[in-house]
Amino acid sequence: MLLAIETSCDDTAACIYDGQRVLSHVVYRQEVHAAYGGVIPEWASREHEVRLPLAVQEALRGAGLTWADLHAVAAAQGPGLLGSLLVGSTFARALAAAQGRPFIGVHHLEAHVASLELGEKPVVYPLLVLVATGGHTHLFRVVHPLAMEAIGRTQDDAVGEAFDKVAASLGLPYPGGPQIEALAAQGNPGAFRFPQPRTEQPWDFSFSGLKTAFLYARRDHPEIPLADLCASWQKAVFSYLVDKLLGAAQTYRIPRVGLVGGVAANEYLRSLLLAQAAERGIEVYLAPLAYCMDNAAMIAVAGWHRYLNGLYTPLTAVPFARG
Ligand code: KG4
Ligand code: ZN
Repeated sequence: MLLAIETSCDDTAACIYDGQRVLSHVVYRQEVHAAYGGVIPEWASREHEVRLPLAVQEALRGAGLTWADLHAVAAAQGPGLLGSLLVGSTFARALAAAQGRPFIGVHHLEAHVASLELGEKPVVYPLLVLVATGGHTHLFRVVHPLAMEAIGRTQDDAVGEAFDKVAASLGLPYPGGPQIEALAAQGNPGAFRFPQPRTEQPWDFSFSGLKTAFLYARRDHPEIPLADLCASWQKAVFSYLVDKLLGAAQTYRIPRVGLVGGVAANEYLRSLLLAQAAERGIEVYLAPLAYCMDNAAMIAVAGWHRYLNGLYTPLTAVPFARG
């Protein structure tokens, strides 16, 4: 019985996992940030302080367990907001020490990749995985859940961050991704052409130009309905992502790709990837919708792999903001 904790950013989550099934999962999405266009780090830490003990108790109760039933405790160790990470990691290390159980520090991006294993289809390795979140846009060549190499990453904004900034420019609440997706669903994706970004390295990404292009298009073309502009922008962003992911799969001769992270919750992106991959004969693994945004089940799966391999983390290990 593994207790997993996630507090990297603005979601407070706890999960009980038995190595095969998620027995209980609790996630509290902090609402205090909604009106501010992004996460306010100090407020996020304070919310975790209040919510985490409640989330853990609820997860234990949901699985019908007590503290003494736990065999190991895992928590996100980074990257993320340091104050937020400290709340979850310190809680987990103290609990592990008190119960005399191993502590397992989990890399947040490794956990997003591991969320694929929560899907219906058993994952076949190796595969290329796109991690698309509010803080990261990374392309990984994954040979095993614990062995992955970043072959590309964003050179500026993360893709989710670009959605959040575009939404904020329209006065829409944070997180902006679902807001833009809802607007785009009512618009014509062929209404406006956005330029495709370029990067020096083939598998890197850039989103700041696309973000700025949206702001200019909105200013210079007030006659284009907002829904049409959002639909066109979303199409440009996701065609770019999908082309990269599938292009990398072909170049690396790995006919399997995965899509994870908060942005992977976008239905337009999910269906675009499925359709384009089918044309190229590439198999797709999608993170389940419930486990795209930050959650503790993905920490549990990654933590479980570490647990099975005896990869315990010293109680003296401190969280890290980057890396
Ligand atoms: O993985 P996540 O919960 O947290 C990080 O690790 O950053 O991702 C949050 C990001 C936010 O930027 C949010 O706007 C974006 O995921 N997002 C979406 C959608 N749902 C969440 N972006 C586009 N479409 C969505 N439906
Ligand atoms: Zn995340």
